[in-house]
Formats: sequence, C-alpha cells, structure tokens
Amino acid sequence: MAFLEVRQLKKSFDTLPVLRGVSFTVEQGDVIAIIGPSGSGKSTLLRCLIDLETVDEGTVTIGGEPFITNGQYPIPRHRRALSGRMGMVFQSFNLFPHMTVRQNLIEPYRMTTPGATDGEEKCRRLLEKVGLWDKADVYPSKLSGGQKQRVAIARALMKSPELMLFDEPTSALDPQLTGEVLSIMRQLAQEHMTMLVVTHEMSFAQDAATQVLFMKDGLIAEAGPPPVIFTRPQNPETAAFLGTAAR
Ligand SMILES: Nc1ncnc2c1ncn2[C@@H]1O[C@H](COP(=O)(O)OP(=O)(O)OP(=O)(O)O)[C@@H](O)[C@H]1O
Ligand SMILES: [Mg+2]
Repeated sequence: MAFLEVRQLKKSFDTLPVLRGVSFTVEQGDVIAIIGPSGSGKSTLLRCLIDLETVDEGTVTIGGEPFITNGQYPIPRHRRALSGRMGMVFQSFNLFPHMTVRQNLIEPYRMTTPGATDGEEKCRRLLEKVGLWDKADVYPSKLSGGQKQRVAIARALMKSPELMLFDEPTSALDPQLTGEVLSIMRQLAQEHMTMLVVTHEMSFAQDAATQVLFMKDGLIAEAGPPPVIFTRPQNPETAAFLGTAAR
C-alpha cells in the first residue's frame, strides 16, 4: 500500500497560485527527489504535507488514512496524529539555541509523546547513528553546520517517523559538510527509510533516489526514475533545467 497519496493539491498565497494541482504517490521505501527552479513550490509542498501550511484544495492520504479530503482536514487530534507520522529537516536546521543537543532531541519528543520513557535511550542511539554522541551536552552554537544538520536529522528520527521530509538539507553547507550530511541520508535510504527530498544535489538525486519529480510553476512537470530524468527527459523544460543546473 502507498504510504502517501497526494491528489490535485492546490494552494495560493493571496492571489498567487503556488501549488496548482500536484499529484504523486510515495510507496514505502521510496526515496523521492524533488528538483526544480526557485519559486516552483517545492518547499510549500513539503510544508503542506507536514501541516505547517494549509492547502486550499486536494486530497492526501497518509498510511491509507484521510489527512486532507477535498481541502478539508480531520479533527485536530487525528490531524496531529497523521502529520506526526512524518519528520522534517529544514535547510536552516531550526535547532533550539538555548538547549543542548540532548535536550534538542528529548524535549520535543517528550512534548509530542507524553508518557514515553525511552527518550534517553533513543537519543543515545540516534546521536551514535549520526556520529555525534560526544556532542550530546554541547549547545548548537558550538557545532559546525554539518553537525547541526546531523543533529536535526537525529531529532526528526526520535519519533520513529514513517516518512522523512528534507527541504534542501545541504544548501547552507560547504561541500565537505554537505558530504557528511548526504552520507547520513544515503545510510537512511539503504535502511529503507521512506524519504521525500527537495534537493539541488543532482548526484544524490541520481544515485540515491528511486524516483525524481521535476516541479515547475506549481506542478509536477515530469516524474520518472533517475536514469530517465537525467539522461533522456521527456519534457523539454526538464532538459532545460538540468542543462542549467549542470553548468
Ligand atoms: N508564506 C508565504 N507568503 C506568500 N508567498 C509565499 C510564502 N511562501 C512562499 N511563497 C511564494 O510561493 C512561491 C513558491 O515558494 P517556495 O518556497 O515553495 O518555492 P521553492 O520551489 O521552494 O523555491 P526555492 O528553490 O527558492 O527554495 C514563491 O513565489 C514564494 O515567493
Ligand atoms: Mg524552497
């Protein structure tokens, strides 16, 4: 069964249409790369999926359950439970500066998972996974950008999300730090984490993605497996974008 079904999603900011009828499906274990020019609606799409923005129209099911039905949302408790099945990592890390790395992982987890007693243990396992257990008691200001992003990934993994959304997780980083973050993401992909990744890293899209979506002007202009998108795109707009991106 598909984990996420998105049908005819539409959203405008005032009079500006930003999503104009986006449809796609994410199967369990898919790693979907979303590419496309600035302003095409990539971030807005992810923000709508994790409920940081509301949509105007469209239908989304998460794990087979209705999350948005023709633009309508379920009662708040169900709505939070469904969006809580996903985790998101942002370009700008969004760590809490007044909390240590450990607190950044544990406090939000405790807030959203009342009664959970496995916070400490999960925190340790995930910081070890991203290679930062030795930084558990430092504040984010003492970390490099790559380390901050690895903490942000570990934090998003705390609630055992079934889908991870990444919005240009490496675009604020220099190439070496980018490599550290991409290698964690590749590891997650190998472990069959279902992922939706907005990225300008074409090498990641090419070798880690199972499917690539090319967004243009609020629509998915082309979707296909990486070998098709990168070597013989069917849409001239995809070819033009990739030609520009490669230069
Ligand atoms: N909160 C907002 N209010 C008004 N307009 C917005 C808002 N957020 C985004 N937009 C507009 O929506 C359009 C799509 O923005 P979005 O951030 O989704 O694009 P993007 O594909 O992620 O671009 P980039 O590659 O630069 O990150 C842009 O024209 C943007 O100016
Ligand atoms: Mg964006």
